[in-house]
Amino acid sequence: MTLALGVLVSGNGSNLQAILDAIAAGVVDAEVRVVISNRADAYAVARAQLAGVEAVVIPHRDYPTREAFDQELIRTLQRTGVEWVVLAGFMRVLSPEFIQAFPGRILNIHPALLPAFPGTHAIRQALVHGVKITGCTVHFVNEGVDSGRIIAQRAIPVLPEDDEESLAERMHHAEHQLFVEVLRDVAAGRIVSHVEG
Ligand code: GRF
Repeated sequence: MTLALGVLVSGNGSNLQAILDAIAAGVVDAEVRVVISNRADAYAVARAQLAGVEAVVIPHRDYPTREAFDQELIRTLQRTGVEWVVLAGFMRVLSPEFIQAFPGRILNIHPALLPAFPGTHAIRQALVHGVKITGCTVHFVNEGVDSGRIIAQRAIPVLPEDDEESLAERMHHAEHQLFVEVLRDVAAGRIVSHVEG
């Protein structure tokens, strides 16, 4: 059965694009039911619209609390029949209520080999620390920041001449492949929901 996805975004949406392209190519047996952005100016919103996918902007600043914002996310995802939630460059931390609304069915992609370099500046931190190998991680989302169980990782060498831009470019390329591989396996039932504890 075709997997019903909801994708949460805040920015460029290149991972969203990779997912949409893989679905269109028949590589992933899924349908993106809705793309939700907390920022109206995110290019990901245009990508969704160009693909004919419902795009909803829910500005977090319009809500008094994280819980109220998350309730609106949940309502939108449930209204559109979403089974699995994909965070693709979504820059907000989700509340326990949100996590519990999609138990074990929320995925995130992160531009580091977790548990190294969680948080917002993972690529910069890899360069600052001088690591020779970094990479990307797809993981289940729990109540922490980038701390849920790891599903898949791809290693990327850090080259002596790398700066943030060149490393980010190779990172994104690897992310797109890794995310699609994981979603293909979720859609095929090879990866199943995972609840901690
Ligand atoms: C990616 O590097 C992802 O790992 C991180 O945010 C970035 C999103 O990029 N969580 P894009 O919006 O998919 O192009």
